[in-house]
Amino acid sequence: MTRSAQTLMLALLLATGVGYSSSGTAQSSGAKPGVEDDLRAANASSQDVAEGKRLADATCARCHGAKGISSSKGVPHIAGQRPAYLHLELRAYQTGTRGNTPMEAAVKFLSDDALVKVAAYYASLDPATPSNTKPAPAKPDPVQAGKAAASGCAGCHGEGGISKTGGVPSLIGQDPKFLISAMQAYKSGQRKNDMMKTLLAAVTETEMGNIALYYALQKPAKAATPAAGDKAAGKAAAADCGGCHGDLGVSGSPATPSLAGQDAEYLVDALKAYKSGARSDDTMKSLAAALDEKNMKNIAAYYNSLQPQPPKAKKPLSTAEWVQRCDRCHGVNGNSTDPRLPALAAQRADYMDKVLRSYQKGERKNTSMAAMSTGLSDAEIENLSSYYAQQKARSVVFITQPGK
Ligand code: HEC
Ligand code: HEC
Ligand code: HEC
Ligand code: HEC
Repeated sequence: MTRSAQTLMLALLLATGVGYSSSGTAQSSGAKPGVEDDLRAANASSQDVAEGKRLADATCARCHGAKGISSSKGVPHIAGQRPAYLHLELRAYQTGTRGNTPMEAAVKFLSDDALVKVAAYYASLDPATPSNTKPAPAKPDPVQAGKAAASGCAGCHGEGGISKTGGVPSLIGQDPKFLISAMQAYKSGQRKNDMMKTLLAAVTETEMGNIALYYALQKPAKAATPAAGDKAAGKAAAADCGGCHGDLGVSGSPATPSLAGQDAEYLVDALKAYKSGARSDDTMKSLAAALDEKNMKNIAAYYNSLQPQPPKAKKPLSTAEWVQRCDRCHGVNGNSTDPRLPALAAQRADYMDKVLRSYQKGERKNTSMAAMSTGLSDAEIENLSSYYAQQKARSVVFITQPGK
């Protein structure tokens, strides 16, 4: 790295406050060490840009559009994109690390010098205008949607899922995956209960997911129902249950329900159902077979007395909350101020949708983007892609420091 490049990079990092890990990009582009700090494209002369234009018109325009504004699905706009980023990606196609056959073919026989110039040319162009396609109607907040879908459940399961009716289970304190599989089992008839089957008949898979998330995020409290048995005797009799249901009745696995604070009458009913085979589960059947009614009541009283805990479930972020995180690297509203980091503002939504999924699957490799994309749901990817496509794109002038 030259002295002037070093000064420039420092100036940029100070100006933008971007915490930038160069090791991440070195891996992403598969480039030689040091190449990620290659800022030649940002330092290009007007003659370089003119030469880059000739190459672009001859080789790239047929796919990327006359002035780097694409009108083809899956082909990105490259006008006004950040210069060092463009150069890095062109190298990644050339070395095969980004693995896209048409792009590989387009750059295969170009010298690195030509890549610098064509990158400088595209970076110098005015960016695309923001997409004005109406955003897909914003997907409702899943927690609110879950609350609405669960409004008919409160009559039996209690407000916020805390049961006030003996024989009806509380729904709080359970991993959402357990609640979903319980609902699916009623719906399919695998878990036999005609009433729950009828109640869930019209509830969709999406609604089940939302309902489960809603209950998982409610503040847990013990069921407001009486317990008849002997807690102390129950604690001793439950010695073998903690291995799966947790020492204090709080399970660590989504397949196993938590029992802490559960309605005692329901716990007894469930154990009887396992014992008789009315509820089928091989493990629970053999365990329940060894218990008589008195033991069941004592165990139920013990678990009922324990404090339920919130399961591992997080409220999903809104698009605005995601954008705050993405903008830390990609600049305000996706207008990157680092020549090595791509701008997202006014980029094609279909293209961003595609690349976010390829980061997620590990097809396009980059440490930062792998981490940022893993947790994104399909709806979040669509919302973010459409958000950035609609932002005004601003080109950035990178001021280089005179060399020494
Ligand atoms: C046959 C059509 C085609 C040609 C010719 C072509 N490209 Fe591409 N280009 C694509 C497609 C498709 C993608 C998206 C590929 C992907 O998802 O990785 C792409 C992606 C890119 C990217 C990555 C942009 C980003 O935001 O990450 C750059 C840079 C690029 N092209 C520059 C060029 C240059 C410079 C040329 C000429 C030397 C060129 N392309 C020629 C089709 C083409
Ligand atoms: C008329 C009363 C009633 C209504 C309304 C009701 N439930 Fe239930 N629910 C029950 C009873 C009783 C059980 C226990 C059934 C059994 O023994 O398997 C149960 C069991 C469940 C379970 C299994 C819990 C566990 O720990 O295994 C889930 C999940 C559930 N209900 C969800 C719902 C949802 C979601 C709604 C609203 C769409 C709903 N229920 C409406 C009475 C009701
Ligand atoms: C080897 C692991 C394991 C052990 C040990 C175990 N359980 Fe379970 N238990 C499960 C699983 C898995 C389920 C869920 C089965 C299903 O889907 O119906 C379950 C379900 C239950 C339920 C139904 C809860 C609900 O919300 O529907 C009760 C009650 C229960 N167990 C009590 C006990 C008691 C009491 C003991 C000790 C005597 C015990 N379990 C020991 C794995 C275990
Ligand atoms: C820690 C920094 C960082 C954060 C935070 C970040 N990104 Fe990135 N992003 C990068 C880097 C570096 C690249 C270029 C990686 C490469 O070479 O493939 C990139 C590339 C992208 C691309 C591909 C751009 C193109 O033109 O091909 C998209 C789309 C993208 N990011 C979207 C997002 C979204 C959406 C978020 C928030 C959920 C996000 N990024 C958060 C660093 C980050």
